[in-house]
Amino acid sequence: MPKTTASPADNSLQGTICVSGDKSISHRALILGTLAIGETRIDGLLESADIQATIAACQALGADIEKGANNQWLVRGRGANGLTSPAQPLNFGNAGTAARLLMGAIAGNPIKAQCIGDSSLCARPMGRVIKPLTQMGAHFICDSHNDKLPLTMRGTDQPLPIHYTMAVPSAQVKSAILLAALNAPGTSELIERPATRNHTEKLLSLFGAELSCKPIEGGQIITLTGEAELQATHLAIAGDPSSAAFPLVAALLVSGSHITLKNILVNPYRGGLWQCLEEMGADIKKINSRTAHGEEVADYEIKASVLEGIEVPAERAPSMIDEYPILAMAAACAKGRTILRGLAELRVKESDRLQAIAEGLHNNGVAVEVLPDGLIIEGRGGKDNDGKIAGGATVKTYFDHRIAMSFLIAGLAAQNPIRIDDDSMIATSFPDFFSCMAKLGAHFERPSE
Ligand code: S3P
Repeated sequence: MPKTTASPADNSLQGTICVSGDKSISHRALILGTLAIGETRIDGLLESADIQATIAACQALGADIEKGANNQWLVRGRGANGLTSPAQPLNFGNAGTAARLLMGAIAGNPIKAQCIGDSSLCARPMGRVIKPLTQMGAHFICDSHNDKLPLTMRGTDQPLPIHYTMAVPSAQVKSAILLAALNAPGTSELIERPATRNHTEKLLSLFGAELSCKPIEGGQIITLTGEAELQATHLAIAGDPSSAAFPLVAALLVSGSHITLKNILVNPYRGGLWQCLEEMGADIKKINSRTAHGEEVADYEIKASVLEGIEVPAERAPSMIDEYPILAMAAACAKGRTILRGLAELRVKESDRLQAIAEGLHNNGVAVEVLPDGLIIEGRGGKDNDGKIAGGATVKTYFDHRIAMSFLIAGLAAQNPIRIDDDSMIATSFPDFFSCMAKLGAHFERPSE
């Protein structure tokens, strides 16, 4: 397989960049546009492989979607109960969000769909959505009877309202249930502890659904009034904080760096990484905070910093669930020990991230201990080695975009080059990764170049 190499940076990172649009909101904007009446206009849509899977699936379910002038995407929807049975299987590729959310939307429509994906997606648990959606009246047959893709599902024209307490903190499962509940009579109620990213709730309100969120001890109750008629709207999607995390940590680790990240989405349920880095001593300034289309957006100024190890509590996990791989790189370069807890969900992401992080760090000279649901990382920061990890090894990415990008960033701040076995899957979430990093002065050796 072609390998990509990150060599120790011989210059600091400087400059200003915007990263691609938020992935979570991009999926939801397309899906809600499909379920709405009229034409939804979307600026800033992420144009990545995962989002292409959602576009193709929404088109197969009957939406008319095209890219118009000035990179604005137009979605002409079918109404919440107007989906049609797709002629071909819906191929969600690597995209868990697309698969789970669209299973929710399909559940509330009297249609049949076959759902397939790549080998990574076919290994991920779907029982967490199948269970509540079955309770609401949908039927599922998994090819291998293991609650995983591939599966065939049949939705219903009479979904039942649901009162459901979430078993795992998952915005994907919550969103699937809310999308199915759009066509159920009466009200549905979801209890989640702790609360997870709330983009579906915010967007449903923007599209005209009647929804309320009430804080409770350690979480929230969401109440949605069903038989909703969603109305098309205009959305502008800000930069993805989960993508911004990579240049952010790169600038902290490469000495002398000073960069600005512009137009980044700020959501209280996605701020865990930024909080950890600040506790570690990172010099990050949030500037120009503003509100756009129901979400906070801001710019960040970041300067290279000496980081210290910290203990990250399990309760913080839902607010930084996608950011542990890159936080682990910051921890490896920090002074002292970092303890990460509450990571059980990392085992069922695009790869077993707990194992992939530990293996990659270990092979590159960092002492790591894997706990049943956590990691202890002995930071290499300090006078002896200039805050640098040894590097020098090839990292197995397990076809996981965030593992790939994290170790490329670590290579910029290592003593020896770090190689990754494949970079093709970075296009699933952050197609502009290499061009953004190049703009800041970071270069990677790629086999295709
Ligand atoms: C997402 C929710 C999270 C996250 C994923 C995107 C979403 O997954 O890891 O990358 O857009 O709802 P879970 O809901 O499984 O935690």
